[in-house]
Amino acid sequence: MIISVGADHGGFELKDKLAAMLREEGYELIDNGTNSSDSVDYPDYAQAVAHDILEKRAELGLLVCGSGIGISIAANRFKGIRAALVTNPDYARLSRQHNNANIIVFGGRFTAFEDAKEWLRIFLSTPFEGGRHERRIEKIDLI
Ligand code: RB5
Repeated sequence: MIISVGADHGGFELKDKLAAMLREEGYELIDNGTNSSDSVDYPDYAQAVAHDILEKRAELGLLVCGSGIGISIAANRFKGIRAALVTNPDYARLSRQHNNANIIVFGGRFTAFEDAKEWLRIFLSTPFEGGRHERRIEKIDLI
């Protein structure tokens, strides 16, 4: 599976640690940066990851900014993107089962690596349930 990753300066440390973990586990990555603490604008990274998914270069995405909020808002402006800001294991599971989320988002300044690692693994291994949830997801893109 190919995963597109991106972060701003508030999220790049967590993004880089999670990217290393994903590579070790055999995932192929597209790393859209950023790769330093120099200040950048989170919408640019949300856009890069959203395009990778919508243009089918990647199946799923990982985004991190300081809080996770700005980069979630930016990613969710793209039709077909369902970015979930995950702060506990249940959100990781439910974002896949019910929302078919295609991007997991973390707040790099508020999320421990050990937690993010566990929640990311849950996200990647949980399938979408379909059924009634499919109908609801189809309605999102009509708005
Ligand atoms: C950058 O300082 C910060 O605003 C950004 O990482 C994010 O938290 C925005 O929502």
